[in-house]
Amino acid sequence: MKLLVVGGGGREHAIIKKLKENPQVETIYALPGNGGIAADAVCVPETGAKDLEKIVDFAKSHAIDFAVVAPDDPLALGCVDRLHEAGIPCFGPDAKAARIEASKVFSKNLMKKYGIPTARYEVFSDPARALAYLREAAAFPIVVKADGLALGKGVLIPQNLAEAEAAVKSIMEDKAFGDSGNEIVIEEFLTGPEASVLAFTDGRSIVPMVSSMDHKRAGDGDTGPNTGGMGTVAPNPCYTPEVAAECMEKIFLPTLAAMRAEGCPFKGCLYFGLMLTPSGPKVIEYNCRFGDPETQVVLPLLKTDLLTVMQAVENETLGSLDVEWHGGAAACVILASGGYPGSYEKGREITIPQDLPATVYHAGDQLLEDGTLVTSGGRVLGVTSVSGTLEAALRDAYAAAERIHFGGKYFRHDIGQWALRALEG
Ligand code: AMP
Ligand code: GLY
Repeated sequence: MKLLVVGGGGREHAIIKKLKENPQVETIYALPGNGGIAADAVCVPETGAKDLEKIVDFAKSHAIDFAVVAPDDPLALGCVDRLHEAGIPCFGPDAKAARIEASKVFSKNLMKKYGIPTARYEVFSDPARALAYLREAAAFPIVVKADGLALGKGVLIPQNLAEAEAAVKSIMEDKAFGDSGNEIVIEEFLTGPEASVLAFTDGRSIVPMVSSMDHKRAGDGDTGPNTGGMGTVAPNPCYTPEVAAECMEKIFLPTLAAMRAEGCPFKGCLYFGLMLTPSGPKVIEYNCRFGDPETQVVLPLLKTDLLTVMQAVENETLGSLDVEWHGGAAACVILASGGYPGSYEKGREITIPQDLPATVYHAGDQLLEDGTLVTSGGRVLGVTSVSGTLEAALRDAYAAAERIHFGGKYFRHDIGQWALRALEG
């Protein structure tokens, strides 16, 4: 079979490596892919993940048997709709279903209408009304979110009125996130441990994957700005079987039913960003796709063939498939370019020893003509180890992280520490 994967980050590398385990897979094309993915797939760097026209033409001219659209942007733009129109089977939601991530106003209103637990909120399209609301009614800290996609940076948590006014001004007036900030959601600040749950769903059946925990802040001890994610562990020790059962009943199944009732059944990977609050699990956000870097710890624990699961989602036969997982734990440490998520240098040479106790997923690098691998993004590599225990997985991932080199290499030193303490109880 010939497969096509849209995207070019660490998540896509993890998907590609997993798909390759199926002996029926002859070739995987990555559009655009990246320098490191080129070792596992045929990369097409001239086709970006948002070039829908070129992606569909490529799929047709290369007789692609199955496509996977991984990033949020092409999903929200209708890449899956376009591939389906061209007769290409694929994994991922259509544009209508992708609104569950692409519009926070849509997802918050969905949760309110169908009684799915989430933070209380108000929606504003007029900055003056948002400011008036903050001055009169608000308690702090409070959460201000741009409606649309914002590279994971569209959530601000002002601690006082002055910061809240600045947040509204930056999103709605200065357009820090472009048109994504035409509307905002202002919501109640929740507390509790966070858990990410990715789930396969064909619109009717849902199969949650192993739970995970992301580390979104740039600095050790959860300090510094929010990033796309600096490291992950799986499973998440706070996500107990009891919590999982409650989430299935109160969040997962009602979300599927709500999307069906709204005429936009969700097919693909639905990501539940959860906060386990003192009054039960609540939805912080939905994503319409695999998380990054959650995928880099979740897929290595998948025992069942990934392509088989994705085909069952596409064919709406997920309910009759038994999806199995490996025991043990996985840890991923992100190696970033110093300065990320702010400005950083690119073009620094990367050296990776062969005998690492880890799998290296490439996120932001490129191959020069002479074959040198150099940095080209903020998050450069995801170093994942799988072991019997979280402690051992973390030890191996950090041992590998130390032995990889590039100028300006930066990583957090405390990935998984919170989870380890929770395990110790
Ligand atoms: P998001 O991009 O929606 O995942 O938000 C980024 C991060 O902001 C989340 O992982 C949470 O840590 C935090 N956050 C978002 N919404 C809330 C909320 N209502 N209460 C507390 N923290 C939140
Ligand atoms: N790691 C969070 C996300 O993928 O949105």
